[in-house]
Amino acid sequence: MTPISGAVSEPANAKINLSLHVTGQRPDGYHLLDSLVVFTVVGDVITVAPSDHLSLTIEGPFSAGLSAGHDNLVFQAARLFGTDRGAAITLTKNLPVASGIGGGSADAAATLRALSQLWDLPVPPRDAQVQLGADVPVCMTRELTRMRGVGDVLDHLGAAPPLNMILVNPGVAVPTPKVFKGLATKTNAAMPNDMPDPSNADTWTSWVIAQRNDLETPACTIAPEINVVIDAFLVQTGCQLVRMSGSGATCFAIFEDADTRDAAASNLRVAHPDWWVAETGAAEV
Ligand code: C5P
Repeated sequence: MTPISGAVSEPANAKINLSLHVTGQRPDGYHLLDSLVVFTVVGDVITVAPSDHLSLTIEGPFSAGLSAGHDNLVFQAARLFGTDRGAAITLTKNLPVASGIGGGSADAAATLRALSQLWDLPVPPRDAQVQLGADVPVCMTRELTRMRGVGDVLDHLGAAPPLNMILVNPGVAVPTPKVFKGLATKTNAAMPNDMPDPSNADTWTSWVIAQRNDLETPACTIAPEINVVIDAFLVQTGCQLVRMSGSGATCFAIFEDADTRDAAASNLRVAHPDWWVAETGAAEV
């Protein structure tokens, strides 16, 4: 894309739930979570350019089938500023849609950051952000974050270790409300409070391995393909941790080093040419 004068670009990094403990449910049906969230280098991109009116263009490998209509979360994010100013917004969709890695929420958060710069207006407050989606507040930064409440209680923890990661999406859509409904119990244990310092990568990784994603079991019942992804990761050399992110179907794995990570990604692409496979690492803060 040719840079447009005055345009602002913001990365919408993929959001990975390294853990996701469901600890309760509010009277309005939303679930209480305790989740450790990391952002990856791979992600969508939002670009906003000066314009008289508000418009949205969607491009990129996963643009097909996405509506650029006024119900798009990107437009909803723009409307939170409560202004009638215009902007030509471009969303470059590099991430599979509805796949548990925050795509729509990350795009909405990047739109808020970009338009705040373009229009020189403050970012709308967290209680407004959460109305766009429970994951929007956490996607406002790229920090390793412990997320509690319904996604609105955030402890920012600074930079994550670099992480040799692979993300895999098998191309099945899993509706989030249906996954939450499939939970056998909604009052599971929270994570322990004693998370080791992320700068001590080995101890920290062991701690993360001991956590869970409570949505993995119901998601695998709805989409057994997720089990196939997990099994395919588990036989790869150097694989330290495999887990589903969010409500699925994307799973991630953490590898010992970049060489075993890259070899595993090649193996997975050969064995499953129809899967989306992305080698990545933690985004810089
Ligand atoms: O907020 P968001 O649109 O991302 O959530 C999608 C759906 O996931 C909600 O309508 C709700 O059914 C479920 N959800 C939940 N508890 C959360 C987050 C999402 O029950 N904390």
